[in-house]
Amino acid sequence: MNKKGLLFATLMSLVALLHADLKCGTSKINFEPRIIGGHVVPNHAYPWMAFLVNTFNTTEGITRRNYCGATLIDKQWLLTAVHCLDRFTDNRTFLHGVALLGTNDVSKLGRNPKSISINYGPKDVFIHNDSTRIHNYIINDVAMIKLPEPLKLDEIKNYVKPICLQEPGVKINAKNCYVAGWGRVYAEEGGLGQKILLSTRVPFVKLPECKKTFPYVTEKEVCAGSSTHSACAGDSGGPLQCTNKKDGSWTMVGIASQGRDCKLTTYTRILYYLEWINNIRKNNP
Ligand SMILES: *[C@@H]1O[C@H](CO)[C@@H](O)[C@H](O)[C@H]1NC(C)=O
Ligand SMILES: *[C@@H]1O[C@H](CO)[C@@H](O)[C@H](O)[C@H]1NC(C)=O
Ligand SMILES: *[C@@H]1O[C@H](CO)[C@@H](O)[C@H](O)[C@H]1NC(C)=O
Repeated sequence: MNKKGLLFATLMSLVALLHADLKCGTSKINFEPRIIGGHVVPNHAYPWMAFLVNTFNTTEGITRRNYCGATLIDKQWLLTAVHCLDRFTDNRTFLHGVALLGTNDVSKLGRNPKSISINYGPKDVFIHNDSTRIHNYIINDVAMIKLPEPLKLDEIKNYVKPICLQEPGVKINAKNCYVAGWGRVYAEEGGLGQKILLSTRVPFVKLPECKKTFPYVTEKEVCAGSSTHSACAGDSGGPLQCTNKKDGSWTMVGIASQGRDCKLTTYTRILYYLEWINNIRKNNP
């Protein structure tokens, strides 16, 4: 190999290194998620997590009562649930929202030095146009938020990074799936949820079993949770994430949609909506 070749090879490996650093679904924080109950997620361990605070115009006036999770899927898009942006409650229209990225602590709502807060409005929100409620069960509970400016991911890669979306053929480790969010810890807790990001490992529940709780659930959703491990109020819109069997990167399998008593949760199935997601991105560059 001549020097030029060597330089080229060095450059290529540098590019590969940089690339690995920016790869979706990886984080610099090595932590062994605990299995029993919810656990605190170390700061930046899930760098794709976003906290949403949405403001609505309601019959009682302007309220800011809806907290949700969302997931960064590339430099400009967040994935969340439709019902976080609420098109199902009468007399309530979405006015504007703030997404907080880069921190597991939302107590200071963006006054945290490293966190990034991004404002968005109705024109930045893309709601699945067939989302609706059938017998109180929400279908097509998927929405996207386009950040007004693309993030400079290379500058913030240590604390903000997209997750990988599950794609056909990608094998996930079904025994290593976690939900994460700032929601309540138990159903009766009341209030808006936690200030620090929590996560818990959840088992998948097969459709026939899930139908006993959610009669209208279909293959467009996945069900996960147990009496001790589940998403809860306030976790909506956040990811159900599993490690990929090939390289261990975190892969988003579902969007937290609906829960029952913080025991069992339905998640909008990413694989089913991948085309919808990609079309929204393609048609709104
Ligand atoms: C809120 O809704 C009321 C009633 O429809 C309307 O008069 C008012 O202009 C709205 N406020 C905002 C900020 O959109
Ligand atoms: C919505 O607003 C209309 C008119 O202001 C009112 O008649 C109706 O009861 C409201 N619906 C709900 C669910 O609050
Ligand atoms: C809703 O989605 C359908 C199917 O993708 C599409 O044909 C239609 O144009 C969409 N409607 C709107 C209002 O975006």
